[in-house]
Amino acid sequence: MSKFWSPLVNDLVPYVPGEQPKMANLVKLNTNENPFGPSPRVVDAIKAELNDGLRLYPDPEGESLRETIASYHSLKPEQVFLGNGSDEVLAHIFFGLFQHDEPILFPDITYSFYPVYCGLYNIQSKVVPLTESFEINPDDFKQPNGGVIFPNPNAPTGRYLELAHVEEILNSNPDRVVVVDEAYIDFGGESAITLVDKYPNLLVSQTLSKARSLAGLRVGFAVGHPDLIEALNRVKNSFNSYPLDRLALAGAKAAYEDEAWFRKCCDGVISERERVTAALGELGFEVLPSKANFVFARHKDQPGEVLAKGLREQGIIVRHFNKPRISEFLRITIGTVEQNDALIAGLETL
Ligand SMILES: Cc1ncc(COP(=O)(O)O)c(C=O)c1O
Repeated sequence: MSKFWSPLVNDLVPYVPGEQPKMANLVKLNTNENPFGPSPRVVDAIKAELNDGLRLYPDPEGESLRETIASYHSLKPEQVFLGNGSDEVLAHIFFGLFQHDEPILFPDITYSFYPVYCGLYNIQSKVVPLTESFEINPDDFKQPNGGVIFPNPNAPTGRYLELAHVEEILNSNPDRVVVVDEAYIDFGGESAITLVDKYPNLLVSQTLSKARSLAGLRVGFAVGHPDLIEALNRVKNSFNSYPLDRLALAGAKAAYEDEAWFRKCCDGVISERERVTAALGELGFEVLPSKANFVFARHKDQPGEVLAKGLREQGIIVRHFNKPRISEFLRITIGTVEQNDALIAGLETL
């Protein structure tokens, strides 16, 4: 605390990102990054931008990338909004598309940045408990609200909500914006992007940090009705006109131009997820069904905190949340075959 801080800053409760340790040779399974690198075409595209052109500002509208993403999803460019990681996109959504004085709804167990944005922008919120089996019940979102947001698949549970149920939530909230945060959708779920032309209240956010292996580049986007996108542009242009630099714009575009690489990485993660799930089951874990690039698992008699600590002593880092309902769980990012072998061997020792 300092006398120079504004009262708002005094009261902020910031998000705590997963650790990015500096030690070498760690098996790092704590922040849901992709174990495979980005497409070589992405690296080439970024290198091609390393020239005198860097003295110029990038395209504030990211037009070329928006066209690429729009055409990939059979949409129009005016239905696409770009941001510096989907976290920035989400921040603008909270500010620009949710009612601030009516409670917005999100699950009790979900991405922990949502309550942080509520605190930052002074938005009222109400948590909606997941069921006993950690699923979203669409009926629970039939209540007055200032907007709805949930990840699909949910984080940190990995559980996926079928599109028919997403539609139920959209239909019960025609006067409110419903945001589906699809950070992990490419690992086996079906995207709600196919529904944006049908529902003017639907906004879908995605990221290039996960399935496209570009967490270090910071690119995310949202798609929806042009009126929703216009609101986001108004917020963005009141905050930072150039959220994506020249390297990010070029690299992200190239990522969409290498479908084969993208598919290979997703398939690799999915098949390893199934193998890790089976191995954890044999070791006495209950593993929630996951359609993400991580699994959420609890052991029948070993506490999550003890296991996370024991793995850490072996140089294997997973995420443990000391929170109600989930303190017995570990969230384990799916790694390479070798990393997953190390995880399984580490748990066997414990
Ligand atoms: C559910 C969810 N949404 C959004 C994000 C943010 O992703 P990024 O800012 O890297 O695009 C994450 C990151 O882990 C996430 O888990």
